[in-house]
Amino acid sequence: MDNKIVLSPSLLSADFSDLGGALKEIEKTDGSWVHIDVMDGHFVPQVTYGQPVIKSIRKCSALPFDVHLMIEKPEMSIPSYIESGADYITFHAEATAHADLCIQMIHNAGKKAGVALCPSTPVSVLEELLPYIDLVLVMTVNPGWGGQKLIPYTVEKVRKLADIRRREGLGFLISVDGGVNSKTLPLVLEAGTDVVVSGSSFFTGELKWN
Ligand code: DX5
Ligand code: ZN
Repeated sequence: MDNKIVLSPSLLSADFSDLGGALKEIEKTDGSWVHIDVMDGHFVPQVTYGQPVIKSIRKCSALPFDVHLMIEKPEMSIPSYIESGADYITFHAEATAHADLCIQMIHNAGKKAGVALCPSTPVSVLEELLPYIDLVLVMTVNPGWGGQKLIPYTVEKVRKLADIRRREGLGFLISVDGGVNSKTLPLVLEAGTDVVVSGSSFFTGELKWN
């Protein structure tokens, strides 16, 4: 495995009654991050966990916390996610009219800013923002649930972003989220992915990394 590529296992597929144990499992993978899916019951139907849980598990691990906010109006709660110990904070472009403000809030706190795109949202919505973003999260499934199948056309969005980055000499990371397993991993890597989020395939042991 190319060691520039980062694995970010998603706690969504972990046993919620033993998140400390899940973090120990993730720590066995060299250089990994921890992907933390926050769902608010509005932007997506489910509710997962929020600031108090992140704050509590922050004490169990020094790994980078890659927080994926699937919440409406992220500008209202970004400060509390910063305070909870997030390192990367990724919000959805579809969930706010204030993406620039969200990026500024995250950067002013010295954290890394990511913007996520649902499968049907075109890369072009980020045209003006790309120079200011640390990470683009390409959703390769519809947000809200683990264990879904990767939607093939989303891989082209990764390729498009990698082309723009090369052409314009930009530095953002490209992350993919959803349906990555040992079969689909080569496709997303070939397209230009830097950060691979994996929930079900990581925790079932299907996706071997080290
Ligand atoms: C889905 C989440 C993902 C989820 C991916 O809305 O954003 O992070 O955990 O799960 P898998 O890897 O099982 O598709
Ligand atoms: Zn996610």
